[in-house]
Amino acid sequence: MWSISTDFMESLMAPPDPVLEAVLRSADEAGLPRIYLSPLQARMLQVLAGVIGARRILEIGTLAGYSGIHLARALPDDGKLITLEIDDKHADVAQANFECAGVAGKVELRRGPALESLQAMDGQLPEPFDMVFIDADKVNNANYLRWAAEHCRSGALIVIDNVVRGGQVATGSDEDPAVAGTRAALRLAAGDERLQATVLQVVGRKGFDGLCFIRVR
Ligand code: SAH
Ligand code: DHB
Ligand code: MG
Repeated sequence: MWSISTDFMESLMAPPDPVLEAVLRSADEAGLPRIYLSPLQARMLQVLAGVIGARRILEIGTLAGYSGIHLARALPDDGKLITLEIDDKHADVAQANFECAGVAGKVELRRGPALESLQAMDGQLPEPFDMVFIDADKVNNANYLRWAAEHCRSGALIVIDNVVRGGQVATGSDEDPAVAGTRAALRLAAGDERLQATVLQVVGRKGFDGLCFIRVR
């Protein structure tokens, strides 16, 4: 039932888009993993970025640029998406896709381990971020969230992908680094009084997973 419902909702809310179809084709042709956001999730980020009037967005984990194009489309002409990617092959595919999508002027793709890129941005930001999307190596989720919370304006939105992992984040062992890193991020989101957070659990094509939404007070 949920897959029929997904088809119905996608047909309405995420109708065929030649640019996005080309992005997914390019990702497959380059042999990239199919771990981008679902169409409905990507649209949700786009809607939220519009709601908060985001002008400066940070994304950690670019892959082929699928979520990034949605975020960039929500930005005003003078807005900026900084997106971080460790894998040069992914970054090459993403850069070409940002150009095809006509958003390259708003997107700055920074290569290398995200923690290093974040460190390099310390003290160099002209303005804090309005929105941060965390979707890279899960072991560093708490580190990414800590950095994001410190570099966001009041009222900003931070979103973390894959916080449920088929229930593993609730039931799995802390010896699994992805579980431990994600649990640490959720505990930080819940326990820091500067943050107000919730989790939306989702079932879809990628199985049972979820997104954490955090408002910076
Ligand atoms: N946000 C994308 C999907 C990202 S998949 C979308 O929905 O379209 C996760 C990406 O994070 C992969 O491309 C992977 O190479 C990248 N990644 C993994 N570890 C990283 C790190 N330490 N620093 C930066 N990027 C990393
Ligand atoms: C994986 C990573 C993701 O960001 C995702 O959304 C799904 C799967 C992974 O590393 O397997
Ligand atoms: Mg993800």
